[in-house]
Amino acid sequence: MGAISRGSDALPAVEPFSAEPQPHMGGAIEGKPLGFGSAGYVVLSYALAARVLRDSRFRNAALDLMEQFGITAGPVHEFRARSVLMAEGPQHMRLRAPLARFMGPNTVETIRDVLRDILGDIMHGMSGQVPFHTAVADPIPARIYCHLAGAPTSDAPKVASLSARTLSLLSRDRSLAPMILAAYDELFDYLRNLFARKKADGLGSDMLSFLIKEQEAGKLSPEELLNEATAMLEASSVNTSHQIGLTVWALLRNRDIWSRIRNDASLIPAAVVEATRLFPRPGIVSRIATESIDLDGTVIPQGTDVHVAIWSANRDPERFERPGEFDLHRERNQPLTFSTGAHGCLGQSLARVEMEEVVRYLATHYPNSVVVDDATEVAQVGGRWLVKSLAVDLRK
Ligand code: HEM
Repeated sequence: MGAISRGSDALPAVEPFSAEPQPHMGGAIEGKPLGFGSAGYVVLSYALAARVLRDSRFRNAALDLMEQFGITAGPVHEFRARSVLMAEGPQHMRLRAPLARFMGPNTVETIRDVLRDILGDIMHGMSGQVPFHTAVADPIPARIYCHLAGAPTSDAPKVASLSARTLSLLSRDRSLAPMILAAYDELFDYLRNLFARKKADGLGSDMLSFLIKEQEAGKLSPEELLNEATAMLEASSVNTSHQIGLTVWALLRNRDIWSRIRNDASLIPAAVVEATRLFPRPGIVSRIATESIDLDGTVIPQGTDVHVAIWSANRDPERFERPGEFDLHRERNQPLTFSTGAHGCLGQSLARVEMEEVVRYLATHYPNSVVVDDATEVAQVGGRWLVKSLAVDLRK
């Protein structure tokens, strides 16, 4: 981290990666939208968070995080350095456009039927107490990735595991570095094999076939093809499965909201957005200042870490009235769970549709389900909301 600006000592102390639940509920602290702690600056208010996330002078900190794990060279470092996450300007558009083609809201709508089939397949015959996170929330996004990528359904457990292992970087536990490196190697091998199998079987209209055709047409280099496919696979599953679990947990425990959803399925999209606002899986989105930047009177020196606390912005009372309440009728409810700006999550429409269909399936087939609190552990750790275990008593 670079030098600390004058004035940082006048900012409230915030430790965004603390293992303890955050004591602060949300928004500015004593009128200050910016905090400071051992990890650098912490953005607390919604307005400042949206500004920082939309400002290209703050670049993604994902590569630096990898370097903090000791991964400073080699194929994994190369992948991250050249990935869509780190690219800016025209190069970013060039890498994002072929992926965005498969992730637009209209394209994603067509996946609802696939999701209903997958849910029917996974949940058929289930009743009574089930480990919902491992049995339902975990397999769904990986099955959808396989559908989009044109990979066999039998690959789904591998996809889920690769996404979870590679993105465990975000836990900031450096002892995991060897496991993470091995997971990326396995992921690269898996994709190279899949490309070869798809070419041998004949390319189709799926996302990976499209990327392979782009490479064959000279629009992507072989490295870019692998990077694009890797970025989508790592992002495809683990965050979505946790966010599915968090949403189900939040809705089933709020019996008033649950009974309103059961009686009126048109409320489901609003309920999903509100659950992701209150319990965002990505607690922090980290950036680095590429130049010296004045943020509301505090000068952030070039090279300094700025952590956007999504959990705080999403409960900012200046932006959301009664921020702690679950409200199905908020106007312009736009939490920052999927970030915003040029790098905003490419898979957000897809992830929302996945959550909506899980909730719809439960409300239709298991309307009297309840969370079994004794066998459930949901926590906020290092700013991130995560499901350690979620037991649901499935009742018709
Ligand atoms: C609930 C599930 C998900 C959450 C909470 C989530 C959240 C995020 C966040 C916070 C970012 C960082 C944006 C930034 O740096 O400003 C991001 C980026 C991204 N996400 Fe997601 N994501 C989810 C699911 C998905 C899915 C299902 C996919 C694809 C299948 C996906 C693909 C991506 C990609 C490719 C990026 C990089 C975009 C870019 O840099 O231009 N995400 N996501």
